[in-house]
Amino acid sequence: MSETIVVSGGSGFIGSKIAAEALRRGYQVVSLDKSPSENAEIDTRICDIRDLDKVASNFPTGVAAVIHLAARTSVLESKLDPQVTFETNMVGTHNLLEMARRTGVGRFIFASSNAVVGQSAAEFIDESNLLAPMTPYGATKAAAEMLISGYQGSYGITGCALRLTNVYGLGMFKKDSIVPRIMRALLGGKPLEIYGDGKQWRDFIFASDVVDAFMLALESNFSGPLTIGAGRSYSVTEIVATVEAITAREIPVVWGPAREGEMRGVKVQISKALRAGFAPKVDLEDGLARVWHDFADAPRP
Ligand SMILES: NC(=O)c1ccc[n+]([C@@H]2O[C@H](COP(=O)([O-])OP(=O)(O)OC[C@H]3O[C@@H](n4cnc5c(N)ncnc54)[C@H](O)[C@@H]3O)[C@@H](O)[C@H]2O)c1
Repeated sequence: MSETIVVSGGSGFIGSKIAAEALRRGYQVVSLDKSPSENAEIDTRICDIRDLDKVASNFPTGVAAVIHLAARTSVLESKLDPQVTFETNMVGTHNLLEMARRTGVGRFIFASSNAVVGQSAAEFIDESNLLAPMTPYGATKAAAEMLISGYQGSYGITGCALRLTNVYGLGMFKKDSIVPRIMRALLGGKPLEIYGDGKQWRDFIFASDVVDAFMLALESNFSGPLTIGAGRSYSVTEIVATVEAITAREIPVVWGPAREGEMRGVKVQISKALRAGFAPKVDLEDGLARVWHDFADAPRP
């Protein structure tokens, strides 16, 4: 009989792709999300993960693993509204861990972030950096990792935290990160606002590579944190130049002040993930071209 897994946040940008891939691989997938899914094949149970009773009444029996992605995901919004970020990312994680403990789930895989380590003094961020988040969002992700560690130590649930860099990919129409903002600016929307000098550098990982990383985590017994990125960083101005070259169009740009709490640079070392079998396949030019076609070909109102 096929295994049942719970995906929290299965209606979201990354969760929808993970749920679809798990279904394709033969898992029974139950998604817990406060929003409906666009994929009718996914058994989506509308449920706010902040409410333990709701999580309990929607949690299926005989679950082999939980993949936990539901979260308040905006770093900048977490500074404006830390309370809701805390409740969703901390209480929500605790509620899912509790249901895992109460129902005997063996594996808990968590969508963490490189924001748990803050602005490291080291040139590269990897799993050896001390946890030193700079924002409420990063703090909730770091604290959630600690909760998972505690449940692993006390109740034998094997936990794994995938610390993702900037994820981009198909279906980013509702997102507000740099890649979709560039695409909207190209299609006649608001000009792209570049914060600060545009030299802040980031690692961008294509969503299908992230899905592969979650499947690897699901189908192995790896535990602890794993940095998941492309292993190469680009500045905002380099991203802009790359998209301009791909599309042969000029991106309208306005320059705004640097955002407080934004990490200056992210360069990650992914050697631990590579040793565990992770192999990112989509390079930046290819990935950005795919996202551009996704936006350009989408029906517009
Ligand atoms: N996208 C990235 O670049 C990135 C980078 C690092 C980490 N992550 C993490 O990966 C995960 C998925 O990110 P995403 O980009 O797919 O985000 P998303 O916002 O597209 O999806 C999040 C999903 O969680 C659901 N959700 C939010 N609050 C909820 C609640 N209280 N109860 C139930 N469901 C709730 C939303 O409805 C949504 O479907 C998040 O945990 C995020 O922090 C994402």
